[in-house]
Amino acid sequence: LIEAEVTVRPAALEELDVAGALRARMAEEEGLRWDEESPGWRARYVEFFARKQRTGDAQLYYAESAGRIVGMAAFSVLDEYRAAAFGQPRGWVNSVFVVPELRRRGIARELMRRGLEWMRRRGCVVVRLRTSDDGERLYEALGFVRGREMELRL
Ligand SMILES: CC(C)(COP(=O)(O)OP(=O)(O)OC[C@H]1O[C@@H](n2cnc3c(N)ncnc32)[C@H](O)[C@@H]1OP(=O)(O)O)[C@@H](O)C(=O)NCCC(=O)NCCS
Repeated sequence: LIEAEVTVRPAALEELDVAGALRARMAEEEGLRWDEESPGWRARYVEFFARKQRTGDAQLYYAESAGRIVGMAAFSVLDEYRAAAFGQPRGWVNSVFVVPELRRRGIARELMRRGLEWMRRRGCVVVRLRTSDDGERLYEALGFVRGREMELRL
């Protein structure tokens, strides 16, 4: 991979707080004011993924460089009837983030590669996400295509 000093690895349950902090940096970059609008969201975010990771329904991956977490991505299995009825779960990707100073070195690509491997092992037959402008080319390069989903804002 990339540069020898960046390692991509699964995140342990005890270190999911870091994901909350990185997600906050990502929100700040997106211009979102979550800390003001939804006090306590970080703890709830961490608890959501911790609960799913504990039961094997999610796995976060971290990119680590010199003892510092510099990137992350969250992979989870959706709770829907196709998983229960046909054993064909679908996956979802959240919070793909790399610190600005280390972008364009293949870190997000490696986070995605490892996470998609996890989803395949977990039995997922398809994986979906909502992209940002930055993410679009990364996901296209990985083979993601636009599907048939539609949505209506309520
Ligand atoms: C999107 C993001 C995670 C990409 O991280 P990254 O580590 O820089 O991505 P990589 O270096 O692995 O890029 C892999 C490939 O994706 C494409 N790509 C990634 N970022 C790109 C950009 N800004 N412009 C054009 N192509 C880009 C390229 O094809 C790139 O390969 P290349 O560098 O060999 O050309 C990072 O820009 C980021 O954290 N952005 C803010 C948060 C965000 O938007 N996340 C996505 C939410 S869905």
